[in-house]
Parts: sequence; C-alpha cells; structure tokens
Amino acid sequence: MAKKNELTHLAIILDGNGRWAEKHGVPRVEGHKAGAERVLKLVEDLNCFPTIKYLTLYAFSTENWNRSEEEVSALMELLCTFLDQHCETLIRNKIRLLISGKREKMPEKCLKRMDQVTALTSENYEKTVIFAINYGGRQEITDAVRKIAEKIQTGSMGIDEINESKIAENLYHPDVPDPDLLVRTSGELRISNFLLWQISYSELYFTDVLWPDFDKMQLEKAIYSYNNRDRRFGGRK
Ligand code: FPP
Repeated sequence: MAKKNELTHLAIILDGNGRWAEKHGVPRVEGHKAGAERVLKLVEDLNCFPTIKYLTLYAFSTENWNRSEEEVSALMELLCTFLDQHCETLIRNKIRLLISGKREKMPEKCLKRMDQVTALTSENYEKTVIFAINYGGRQEITDAVRKIAEKIQTGSMGIDEINESKIAENLYHPDVPDPDLLVRTSGELRISNFLLWQISYSELYFTDVLWPDFDKMQLEKAIYSYNNRDRRFGGRK
C-alpha cells in the first residue's frame, strides 16, 4: 500500500501546449487556450485534494519574452481573460490568488487584472494558487540579494545576519512553504529556472503527458508516485 507523504505545496511547470497544438493540427495559440482550460479544471479539482494548500503554476518565464510577439501577446491576452472570467470561481472555491514574478515589461492591462484579482481573493481563503508570471528563479534570488544589500546599506541589517533564513525571507512570497512535489509535463527533464531556491528538497515528477492533457487522473498518478518516495531531507532514517 502507498505510504503517505504530506503534500501541502504542489508546483507545476506547464509544458507542451505547442506540441499539443501541433498534434491536433491547430495554431500554437489554440494549444495555449487548451492549456488555460486545463488550469481552470485543475483549480476546480483542488477541492478533491484537501491536503494541497498551495499550487504554483509556471505560466510565463522571464525567458518567454523571446517568443514571437504574436505568441507573447496571445499569452498575455489569455491571462487577462482567465482573470476576468474566473475570479468568481476562485472566490467561490475560497482560493487566494498570488502572482510571483517581475511587474516590469508586463502589459498595464494584465497588471491591473492581477492586482484586482489578488485584492478580491485576499481574505477568507482556504487555498492559495500562485501564478508565476514573468518569473525567473535566478531573478528572484537576485532581487532578494538586492533587498538584503539595501538593508545593509541603510544599517537595518548587519552582514553577519545573512543566513539561509534571511535569504528565504526576502524571496517574493516568504510565507509560502517550499514545494513538496514539482511536476513537469511534456517529457522535458529540466527545471528551466523555476523556484531554484525553494525546490532544494522537493520531489520531482516528470511525465510525457502534454499540459492540456494533464487531467485529474494524471495528477493522482503523480501523487501516487510522490507517496512512495522516501523523503529524507539529507538525513538518514
Ligand atoms: C509551455 O508550453 C507553456 C507556456 C509557455 C505557457 C503556459 C500558459 C498557459 C497554460 C495558458 C495561460 C496560463 C494561465 C495561468 C491562465 P510550450 O508552448 O513551450 O509548449 P511546447 O514546448 O510544446 O512548444
């Protein structure tokens, strides 16, 4: 029988929308639309997974600006539409939305929606969904280093106070626990600059399933695998 590991925070690298579109003979943007629909389904299914209190989704990396202008603006538009259409779903399901990433370069329209939905969902929540948008793990650590340097410069912190906890406290969302399980869809075996600090002891699960096809059964499979992992955090039993 499967052993139970605590699963509080699930993080997912949403990958394979483009290949899904190719497989179905439709334009890339249709793959992203199908990916956004899958995001909605997963958010709605969260109720079936009571231990999961945090879900982080890697929706747009700092490197994704290198895609064609057409694809980038389609992704931004999809994000705005998602926030417009599904804010009620988040509220109904007692889900708080957080955004992780840089505001710079983001279209004003998206920033406005992101601010509205994060404000509207900031109270009476049971779960937290985090969209990593214009996010890069190296950027997040760089920003933490800058914040610490500023504190040292102004005298509110000493150099000898720098330790792992202080760095963690200066990340984008210091109150969010580290992911227990990191899933990447579409068969790529990479981390791609996602949550570099936070995944030190996360369990990794890679599947060939393309993101738009990653349904509840696929998630249950990932959790089954996770439950059979021997988490030692560098120690010994
Ligand atoms: C990776 O697939 C996926 C992305 C870069 C975008 C993810 C975006 C969504 C799922 C839709 C909008 C998101 C939200 C949160 C509403 P890819 O294009 O790299 O796929 P490929 O490797 O097969 O080309």
